[in-house]
Amino acid sequence: MPVAEKILILDYGSQFTQLIARRVRELGVYGEIYAHDCSKERIAEFAPAGIILSGGPQSVLAADAPAMNEAIFELGVPILGLCYGMQLLTQYGGGQVVAEGGCEYGNASVRITQSPQSPCPLFADIETDTLQVWMSHGDHVQQLAAGYEVVARSNDDADGVIAAIADVKRRYYGLQFHPEVAHTEHGSHLLENFVRRICTLRATWTMPNFIKQAVTDITEKVGDAHVLLALSGGVDSAVTAALLHRAIGQQLVCVLVDNGLLRRGEVESVRSVFEQQFGIKLIVIDAAERFYQELAGIVDSEEKRRRIGHLFIKVFEEQATNLGEQIQWLGQGTIYPDVVESGKVGNSKATIKTHHNVGGLPEHLNLHLIEPLRDLFKDEVRRLGEELGLAHTLMWRHPFPGPGLAVRVLGEVTAARVATVRQADDIFLTEMQASGAYEQTAQAFAVLLPVQSVGVMGDERTYEDVIALRAVTSSDFMTADWARLNNDLLARVSSRIINEVAGVNRVVYDISSKPPATIEWE
Ligand code: XMP
Repeated sequence: MPVAEKILILDYGSQFTQLIARRVRELGVYGEIYAHDCSKERIAEFAPAGIILSGGPQSVLAADAPAMNEAIFELGVPILGLCYGMQLLTQYGGGQVVAEGGCEYGNASVRITQSPQSPCPLFADIETDTLQVWMSHGDHVQQLAAGYEVVARSNDDADGVIAAIADVKRRYYGLQFHPEVAHTEHGSHLLENFVRRICTLRATWTMPNFIKQAVTDITEKVGDAHVLLALSGGVDSAVTAALLHRAIGQQLVCVLVDNGLLRRGEVESVRSVFEQQFGIKLIVIDAAERFYQELAGIVDSEEKRRRIGHLFIKVFEEQATNLGEQIQWLGQGTIYPDVVESGKVGNSKATIKTHHNVGGLPEHLNLHLIEPLRDLFKDEVRRLGEELGLAHTLMWRHPFPGPGLAVRVLGEVTAARVATVRQADDIFLTEMQASGAYEQTAQAFAVLLPVQSVGVMGDERTYEDVIALRAVTSSDFMTADWARLNNDLLARVSSRIINEVAGVNRVVYDISSKPPATIEWE
């Protein structure tokens, strides 16, 4: 992304590295993550106005510890080392890092010890002497490298572990704790002091600026060629469509594969937003029957996923082939966390894990790949979408899995069973939205169980399906808690499902957290 004022974050493997980039961007400054061992040329090309060294799981004392990337000192820009990063600055500068006595994990208290005569700009305008911070380290700095002074220590005594160091003249700083973590008091303020005061960067990273730049980039790249994009109704593909359309208008062709596994009203709503509101060229392929045939007799969830994935690619490729030479580019809604998680940051030697979204879908179609959201975090994608005119409700929808309702129909997937779960799901979501509970949960849906149970309706004994309701709160979907939904809401949903959905006589509510349960049932 060609922005002038930016921060480079060198990743030493911390679980918080992405958070550092997010915090920097929340301050209105573009920050990008590169692998710690990326080349001198890449760093020079990126031309950062400041550098942050992340924490990391290893010890700087280990023989195979990731080393300092010396190229950063050639730029003459401010450097902030966090945890491992601070220890690396110390070790590289000739100071001493030791392993004994001083491990701190979790919440800790640090005291700012800067002298009033030479206040440290990192702590400017922080009107307290003690901070509650998030620590996670085994080693610590014992002896400073030349040029540095101690500006904060853990605990109240003069021998507390060194918690912050500064070389104000060269503009090198280190924090033993993690300012990027929400548990650290004034953490954002510390980062703001580094980015704004020390690196003197302005807040130029805004969505309107991003759009201007992206439109120029896309137009230059694509010229008068045509781009094909698979729309799913999800946030990332929707925003990709809106952005590409802003740049190249009718040269964009969107394809929605209706696999028969979508939620109620999904196809109509995609049509109404993209065709009617935006005037985007949209091809809807009704492939429901093909998907049901592909899933006939399959009960294993991974096999369902595999078959759905393969058939999707096949249907999509057929469409691309039909469009023939008209199309030269394939659009994809890859976002920054996908890129980071696939290890494709900077030019790292190590690949952490591969990601299905990165690297291109059907390679043999011979299309160039365009991924205009590659640099954006999810919350930025949502803000971008709203800036492009996509509705707030669409941008803040709960996520929906690629294999759709198939993984919410436990046991065999048939058109009839999908219809049952779709209707129950629609009732649940409608009531959640009406009560305001939808916005307070991260995900909510209905699941059709592969068992039947006894009931009584009128004077008749019934033996019918069971619907499970699942609603969770979660900030990252890695962990989740079951949502404490209002009892009256649950009662209303249960009664509506049993009365309105044919063949269902029982509704249960899932009260499992993740872990050990997952959010989806399969
Ligand atoms: P779990 O069930 O693993 O889900 O706790 C975490 C998040 O991932 C979504 N999910 C999927 N998304 N394809 C997707 O695109 C899948 O196969 C898939 N499985 C789970 C799930 O809905 C939740 O948001």
